[in-house]
Amino acid sequence: MLLGFACNSVKKTEEVKLTDDERMEWWRDARFGMFIHWGAYSMLGGEYQDSICWGGAEWVMDKLDMTIEEYEKYPRSFNPVDFNAEKWVSLAKNAGMKYIVLTSKHHDGFCLWDSKVTEYDIMDTSPFKRDIIREMAEECKKQGIVFCLYHSITDWHHPQAQSVFYPDYNIGQKDQTKSNPEFPKYFKNYLKPQVGELLSNYGDIGVIWFDGEWIADYTTEMGKEMYDYILDLQPNTIVNNRVDKGRNGMAGFNVEGNFVGDFGTPEKEVPATGIDEDWEACFTMNGSWGYKPSDLNWKSDTLLIQSLVDIVSKGGNFLLNIGPDGLGNVPEESVVRLNTMGEWMKENEEAIYGAKASPFEKPEWGVYTSKGNVVYAHVFDWPEDGKLPLNEKVKVKSATLLASSGSNVEWVEGALQLPSQPTNKFVSVVKIVLDQEQPL
Ligand code: GLC
Repeated sequence: MLLGFACNSVKKTEEVKLTDDERMEWWRDARFGMFIHWGAYSMLGGEYQDSICWGGAEWVMDKLDMTIEEYEKYPRSFNPVDFNAEKWVSLAKNAGMKYIVLTSKHHDGFCLWDSKVTEYDIMDTSPFKRDIIREMAEECKKQGIVFCLYHSITDWHHPQAQSVFYPDYNIGQKDQTKSNPEFPKYFKNYLKPQVGELLSNYGDIGVIWFDGEWIADYTTEMGKEMYDYILDLQPNTIVNNRVDKGRNGMAGFNVEGNFVGDFGTPEKEVPATGIDEDWEACFTMNGSWGYKPSDLNWKSDTLLIQSLVDIVSKGGNFLLNIGPDGLGNVPEESVVRLNTMGEWMKENEEAIYGAKASPFEKPEWGVYTSKGNVVYAHVFDWPEDGKLPLNEKVKVKSATLLASSGSNVEWVEGALQLPSQPTNKFVSVVKIVLDQEQPL
């Protein structure tokens, strides 16, 4: 129900503010999370009338020129009867993921919780009438997964957020450089209160993950104000860099300058070498964030597992997306891949959780991750002669295979003597305890 935004619905938590390093600690250790793009657009799967949109299907409203009226039919009939928070959270947990970032609102403006500043939400507009954010928050808590939210700054539905100078495109999102003089009102009376609701009524929120900051109307001042507002409500929530304008194109690292945000967000790309800031690479499993049945270009298990390892070896986190369908079912292709990743994680998780970037140059056969006086050799290409050369700075005290119940590996004449076959068909990991506590 639309009650108008009441100040008492914004509550500060009692939490004590940690230092920045303490605040980031769980996130730096987690390394692997699940992105979920889900909303009314999932009913369309990127298709409208006779067309299929290019790229991400969550953009269908924009890409296939749907009017607000045409699009609103979908939120109005959104009834995802198969949605089951327990299933989604278990899927992430079994894959070895430590946090979930769920879209509370995407660019289409439709909200998945009971917002008091709009009726364009799951409780008031849709027949479903179940607060998705609440069910997911509670289930994550139950299963020990950190609950996080993606929230779009861009809003194609709110009249004060659409670019009004584009009459041909009645929803105005076609040219994101056009502006709306009313946007500051949307920011103050709508966007900020929404973020306030999400931080007040759903327990601890691990990360607020903004997107859509590229529209002309959003300013760096607004970004700073939003950042401070979040930390005022939940001092230990982590905020991505898209809260501000500093993103360097799609690449997602902060450009030079004074921008707020706790981590960079490279999108569908991994930097060639590690970088000296917190970052998280987000990836789709096919090419779309939102459900898109026409996109059959699924990444292989091997590529996904190797991407995870590669990202961790460069000091980043891996946020891997699923796009459930309009009824709430996760595509089977995603389920299969996540289960495979989970099997790999069960055997090798100690080389991922809490692991840091490799202190050494990338070897030809794979990558290294590190932890204290241990380095993990992640072998992508198993040597034919069984001899694995290591970086000359590695002084081996002992080496074991993480698979095969930790059997020992000998170090002879400058190489590890591996068995003839890989111990894992995707990435085999050798744990190497260094001879001394090296400054890695
Ligand atoms: C892009 C897209 C958006 C998606 C996001 C994920 O910015 O606009 O649809 O949610 O990437 O990073």
